[in-house]
Amino acid sequence: MSKRSMVTAVSMMMGLITSHGIAFGHGTEKHGNMMPMDSQMKKLHAIMPMFSLACDNMVSALEKGEIARIESEAGKITAAIPDLKKTKPHKNIKQQSTFVTHASNLEKAVNTTVELAKKGALVEAKAAYKKVEGACAACHAKFRD
Ligand code: HEC
Repeated sequence: MSKRSMVTAVSMMMGLITSHGIAFGHGTEKHGNMMPMDSQMKKLHAIMPMFSLACDNMVSALEKGEIARIESEAGKITAAIPDLKKTKPHKNIKQQSTFVTHASNLEKAVNTTVELAKKGALVEAKAAYKKVEGACAACHAKFRD
């Protein structure tokens, strides 16, 4: 190999290493076109812990038959559904319409739970709540790392 092609090969390798370095070191900062995606993921990370808390509170409110609390906790979840639909998961990101369907399924399950609770049908409301957990799990199975 001539000295010249040696230099070319080495600088190509360096180039590869450097571009990987940027990808790992700085995440998406270097890529302007990735920024919306990045903030969508941040949004998702903000919504999920809130969902967890609201679910815990719904379970306890269902246990105690606290209808108003069931409704207010459920309201926190349903209020975030439009935002959830606009976020992007890390995995299977091309299947956005399926992601949106999962978010709608969660919304329906939460609304059904509230409707039953408001009628005083607590046993049925608890059963409906299982579908809320199912909706969380179904989306996670497909879209959570
Ligand atoms: C439409 C899809 C979808 C639905 C519905 C959904 N999640 Fe998630 N959730 C995700 C994704 C995707 C992640 C992984 C986030 C990541 O890795 O960026 C996640 C992560 C989480 C986490 C881990 C924290 C985090 O930010 O990574 C918790 C806790 C969580 N979800 C709770 C819930 C609960 C409780 C429900 C139901 C009330 C729910 N999720 C419904 C998509 C969903």
